[in-house]
Amino acid sequence: MLSNLAARDVETLVHPYTNLATFRETGPLVLERGHGVWVYDTDGRPYLEGMAGLWCTALGYSNEELVAAATEQLSRLPFAHLFSGRSHDPAIELAEALKELMPVPTSKVFFTSSGSEANDTQVKLAWYMNNALGRPRKKKIIARQRGYHGVTVVTASMTGLPANHADWDLPLPGFLHTACPHHYRFAEPGETEEAFSSRLADELEALILREDPETVAAFVAEPVMGAGGAITPPAGYFAKVQAVLDRYDIRFIADEVICGFGRLGTWFGSEALDMRPDTISFAKAVTSGYMPLGGVSIDEPLYEALLAESRKLGTFGHGTTYSGHPVACAVALKTLEIYRRDRIVEGVAGKAPLFQARLAQLRGHPLVGEARGLGLIGGIEIVADRASKAQFDPKAGVAARCVAFAQAEGLIVRFLAGDRIAVCPPLVIQPDEIDTLFDRLARALDRTAAWIAAEGLEAVPVPAR
Ligand SMILES: Cc1ncc(COP(=O)(O)O)c(C=O)c1O
Repeated sequence: MLSNLAARDVETLVHPYTNLATFRETGPLVLERGHGVWVYDTDGRPYLEGMAGLWCTALGYSNEELVAAATEQLSRLPFAHLFSGRSHDPAIELAEALKELMPVPTSKVFFTSSGSEANDTQVKLAWYMNNALGRPRKKKIIARQRGYHGVTVVTASMTGLPANHADWDLPLPGFLHTACPHHYRFAEPGETEEAFSSRLADELEALILREDPETVAAFVAEPVMGAGGAITPPAGYFAKVQAVLDRYDIRFIADEVICGFGRLGTWFGSEALDMRPDTISFAKAVTSGYMPLGGVSIDEPLYEALLAESRKLGTFGHGTTYSGHPVACAVALKTLEIYRRDRIVEGVAGKAPLFQARLAQLRGHPLVGEARGLGLIGGIEIVADRASKAQFDPKAGVAARCVAFAQAEGLIVRFLAGDRIAVCPPLVIQPDEIDTLFDRLARALDRTAAWIAAEGLEAVPVPAR
């Protein structure tokens, strides 16, 4: 029997990324409050938030300083916009702070309210710039299979996941996908990480040449892939990809929506992974998830192109009502201040070895094919047979079942396509909480193994590459 609140939910809400059919039976997990890395449901049950919400609540829950920053701004100036040359100090100050932090040359910052809008803006800016530069054919966007960049028509086209394309009439023409850099799943037998990276860079180059480099505007990549499986790239990958992009004057967009602001133990994932992007998309941890805010860095050549277009057309025809919302900007400013003052990024670097060691221990579990990560992010792949890497029938929903067992153990983690499980706790997680997280996850895997045995589930043949 669903509770009253749960029953009302089922009758009123359409939930993102939810099987709407089975959801009618299972109902929601309704959360009521949070504290530190813990969230509590309406029955008062605590859960360790092993996903930082959706990869975003970096400073955990109940951070009073963020609450105060929001309420103070709400009482002072709850809304102001940046259209037609209007401005306000939280946006100016935040843009200044971000310009200083960005690991890429940054002339200006453009604000959005989400990661999808940030990446959507990146594509529009790349198109607009190439028109300004007199190269109107240079418009195609290359993303990667299993990359995740959002859900607008354009960003869902960039996203390389079947659920974002099937029956959505996507991807749009001009959005291409190159191979996923997942060594565990896609390397040839015996292929080293470096050799795999070289092969993928060669494949990217072949795609660019096939399409004609004069038609390719930009390449977009997350440092560590998030929603596509929490996949850490193989050694040498970005250096090799970068060389290809440089050869054909292709703009490199780093989607730092998850990795930005400390997740990998560096301020940005680009710094941890030897990436030299032209521009960065950010969102999520910029406000620790407390307010919706995203944005993009704008390099000087791009800014020059925007200026030229304004001279020609009379305006910069882009922006949303909430671009640079003052409350979101005020919360972001406070978030960045806390990151610096409390040395949060250095703290991640310090805790990462314990987190990664506990993650690596899971490789001993009979259901775990891969357990790999970087910083405070981890990806686990459940397999039916560790030698052949054969998986269970996707319809059996093994990873989803494991996540449900984790929830029963008081741990929130997330299942992703390909029987993968993501772990991405708040950056403020303490060492004993890291231990609790992995103890509970190990118990959830044990319960999954017992369930598999009881159901008599078997491996399906290894899919052809
Ligand atoms: C890497 C990445 N890019 C873009 C997005 C889209 O952001 P949003 O859901 O805020 O639109 C996400 C969301 O999870 C993401 O992980």
